[in-house]
Order: sequence, then structure tokens, then C-alpha cells
Amino acid sequence: MQIIDGKAVSKAVKEQVRQECEQLKKKGVTPGLAVIIVGDDPASQVYVRNKERACEECGFYSVKYALDENTTQQELNDLVKKLNADDKISGILCQLPLPEHLDDKEVINLIDPIKDVDAFHPVNVGKIMIGDYNYLPCTPAGVMELIHSTGVDVCGKNAVVIGRSNIVGKPQAMLLLHENATVEIAHSKTKDLPSVTSRADILVAAVGRAKFVTADMVKEGAVVIDVGMNRDENGKLCGDVDFENVKDKCSFITPVPGGVGPMTIAMLMKNTLTAAKIQNNIK
Ligand code: GUN
Repeated sequence: MQIIDGKAVSKAVKEQVRQECEQLKKKGVTPGLAVIIVGDDPASQVYVRNKERACEECGFYSVKYALDENTTQQELNDLVKKLNADDKISGILCQLPLPEHLDDKEVINLIDPIKDVDAFHPVNVGKIMIGDYNYLPCTPAGVMELIHSTGVDVCGKNAVVIGRSNIVGKPQAMLLLHENATVEIAHSKTKDLPSVTSRADILVAAVGRAKFVTADMVKEGAVVIDVGMNRDENGKLCGDVDFENVKDKCSFITPVPGGVGPMTIAMLMKNTLTAAKIQNNIK
């Protein structure tokens, strides 16, 4: 069994982005990311801080809009419209979840698709569906990078994704399909989940439940990717996979933390770089 080092893979991606950013700057273009955060959800604050730090590492311009919990939909919408029109901003990201009284769909729909570095706008979601995209959603794209880093060829493999969210499960299945895996999407209503997951040469867990995937659910020699970010019974950070018991059954497995998490941010940097290139007609 080998542990996939998400930190190392993400570092390599960010280094590549940093070098490309350096070249862009010579042409007078600096990638710029605007991050909007509303309220004071502690997890979101950590994510946003990490995104700012990554921008700094890559040489990007970045600006954070930390809005009050009581911000109105109109104020939020107006900010997005202002950023859409701002040439210094290549990418706009509105950290989710938003407070209850705000409508995330409305905000996402307002972001100019060409600045939508999360790839959450329906136009970008549709483009992914037909395989003609500028931006891939960061977490599923990061998962694909981690799978590639193992050297395992996805083509013809049985891949099972547990979870069907719009942010991870659904686009993840599509990216695996683009690489010619035979894909199944399992979810809370799936009958006999272990029999489905046991077919997986590649298993991606995106359920949001601590240590949900147990050794009996995993095929011998599988590649196991854990998208989960949970707290266990002792308050310790853990994934959706029962790592200690599953690891000896896999060929490759990602840890939590240090697996998918760092990749999400690296892919965001990649999308922001791409956004700057597109908006400045640079190939
Ligand atoms: N909240 C949790 N993950 C994400 C993400 O990838 N993008 C945004 N905007 N919010 C999130």
C-alpha cells in the first residue's frame, strides 16, 4: 500500500502555476482572485485564509471581501457585478455555505462564467457535461490529479463515486467517465452499498460521514480517494474512509488531512491562471 501525498502533488501543481504566472507577468498580466466570505463560519475562514496564502505563493493578486453576517442579497449581488467588471480580477469565488437568508444559486448565476473559477455556474457545469470546458471544479479535478500521480490508468477501470453532490459527486463521475472509466454513482438510497463499492478499482468517497467506508466495502488492491473532512468521536480530523482498517487492502490511499484538501486549492490556482490567460487572449 502507498499513501498518496496530496501535499507534495499540490506543491508541484502550485509551482507549475507560479512559473507560468511569472511568464504572464512579463506580458503585463497578473492573475487576480477575489474571494467573498459572508459571516464568520470558522471552517470557511480557514479555507479562505488558505486560498489567500496560495495566491501569495503563486504570485497572484488577491483580494478578500469579508462581509458581515447580515449582508443583504442585493449587497452581495452588487459586489459580484462590480467584480465582474473589474479587469484586475480574473476569478471570483464566493465561499459556501452562505448564511441561511442568502441564496447561493442567485450569486453563482451572477458570476460571469469566464470568471467562475469554482466552475459552479450552470454554463460551466454544462460545458463539463459535454467535455468542452475552460474550468474543472476544483475538488474533482484535484482527485483526478491524485489518481494520475499513482500511475494507474483510469481507462476501462470500474470507478465508484459515493456521493452525488453538485460540487463533488456528480462532476467527479463525469471526469472519470471522460477518462473512460466505467462509472457508478452510489448514494444514501443505494441498495447493498458494499456489493457496489467492492467492484471499484477506483473508489472515491464523498459522503461527509466520518469513517463511513470500512474494509469490507473495499476491493483488494483498489485506489481509494477520500474527499471527506469530518471530526471523529474524539474531535480529531478524519475522512469518510476508515483509514487505519482500509489502508492495508488498497494499492493507493489518500490520507485526511494531507490528501484531497491541498489539491482543491492548487486546482483553484490553476483555474485562476487559466482565467487570466483567457481574459487576455494568451494561449
Ligand atoms: N465550500 C466548500 N468547498 C467549496 C469550494 O470548493 N468552493 C466554494 N466556493 N465554497 C466551498
